[in-house]
Amino acid sequence: MILPIVGYGDPVLKKKAKEIEQDFPKLKELVANMFETMHKANGVGLAAPQIGKSIRLFVVDLTPYGEGEDADEDCKDFKRVFINPIIFEESGEEWGMEEGCLSLPHLRMEVFRKPVVKIEYYDENWDLYEEELDGFPARVIQHEYDHLEGILIPDRISAMKRTLLKGKLNNIAKGNVSVNYKMRFANAL
Ligand code: NI
Repeated sequence: MILPIVGYGDPVLKKKAKEIEQDFPKLKELVANMFETMHKANGVGLAAPQIGKSIRLFVVDLTPYGEGEDADEDCKDFKRVFINPIIFEESGEEWGMEEGCLSLPHLRMEVFRKPVVKIEYYDENWDLYEEELDGFPARVIQHEYDHLEGILIPDRISAMKRTLLKGKLNNIAKGNVSVNYKMRFANAL
């Protein structure tokens, strides 16, 4: 089932999300719906707050980047569910990359992050993993993890750059933006 994606301006995106327990109702159904919603919107990652649920869960699918002629080896078969993740180490020198976000349609901004992350998480079967990641997978995971902390990409740029984007951000917050996937806006006029 495709769920509406919450747009910038909704308070759920600013909240620190809560961990879930193993008896969380209909978890697999929720995960399947999140993948479906993300694929429909052509996203590579989607965090639960973006569908209005303030819980520590996100999904990532980088498999399209791991296929074809200029395939990124890091992305090969990279389709995962992250539950109650903890990034316990980030290292290396920060580098900038243009990031977008399904909650902020048509906006891209350069965000600086460290290249290597160590993360611990459960998958949808409650198997526990500990991994070190770099490259594009690390970048996407840092972005999605930020969603669980209530941090959005405009929070990761300079105040000056944010000021320049103010008009566009205000328009998105009011739902004054056209998208080809289902969204909902807390402050729509
Ligand atoms: Ni995002």
